[in-house]
Amino acid sequence: MNIISISLPKELTSQLDEVAKKYGYASRSELFRQALRNFIADHHEYEDVRGQVIATITILYDRRQRGELLEVQHEYGDVINSLMHVHVDEKSCLEVLVISGESEKVKELIAGLKTTRGVKQLRTAFMHLG
Ligand code: NI
Repeated sequence: MNIISISLPKELTSQLDEVAKKYGYASRSELFRQALRNFIADHHEYEDVRGQVIATITILYDRRQRGELLEVQHEYGDVINSLMHVHVDEKSCLEVLVISGESEKVKELIAGLKTTRGVKQLRTAFMHLG
């Protein structure tokens, strides 16, 4: 573990302490570590992701096209750990997929899902494991 010191404006410091207290962080350092991991993960360029990855894929899709989506999901069953399905309304369903596996395979899956008929919106979140 490295120790670094940073300068923060007074107001930001008190906001930091408020958040830490409100959400029960044990220390400022714990909050910073989590915030930095989120920051790094958010700035991962999708194309730059390498090696083993863990991510979520959220899809909003036309429920009438479910068959095609299921075909893609079966093809990549070895990287899809878990899946949650929510019936949004009479037209749409939302699915959240938890993915872990080799980055190239995960990218293939995402590319496949993006071009699956009926997929209206797709969002990915890669987790930073450092
Ligand atoms: Ni549904």
